Amino acid sequence: MLQQQVHNEFNASQQYIAIAVWFDGRDLPRLARFFYNQSVEERNHALAIVQYMLDTDHHVDIPGSGDVRNEFSKVAEPIQLALDQEKEVSADIEELARAARAADDHTSEQFMQWFLKEQVEEVSQMGTLRNVVDMAGDNVFEVENYLAREGLDTEETDSDMPPVAGGAR
Ligand SMILES: [Fe+2]
Ligand SMILES: [Fe+2]
Repeated sequence: MLQQQVHNEFNASQQYIAIAVWFDGRDLPRLARFFYNQSVEERNHALAIVQYMLDTDHHVDIPGSGDVRNEFSKVAEPIQLALDQEKEVSADIEELARAARAADDHTSEQFMQWFLKEQVEEVSQMGTLRNVVDMAGDNVFEVENYLAREGLDTEETDSDMPPVAGGAR
């Protein structure tokens, strides 16, 4: 399950690059930067799981990327995709936490705690962004202003994040 989650996190990372590039190509730099940063976060998630697997003597395979969607017709679409993706990841993480508890694997259960908390933030943040996009309607620059005003286009470092293989970026 951890191996599958490494794949899911890397795939999320690739998908966020695709969304970032889509925004970048439409001269929406704040949305682009927000998703470039999200991509780095997902990469860090993948490599935190890799580090945990290394630390607990599991064999690790680094997967190729899965399917990535690049075609969108309006700004709301990639945001909705991102929100759906975060909700799916939350379900995956909950499943992992449940499995660790069922296996009486306290170490893995503890490892999953940070991810549970992180997913609450990620779903909440992406849900808010979706609402802002709805409210902005055709005026996408309001979304750009929102991201700038709230400082959501800058990278935040989370000091209590589990260690990341090769170091967090
Ligand atoms: Fe993630
Ligand atoms: Fe995420």
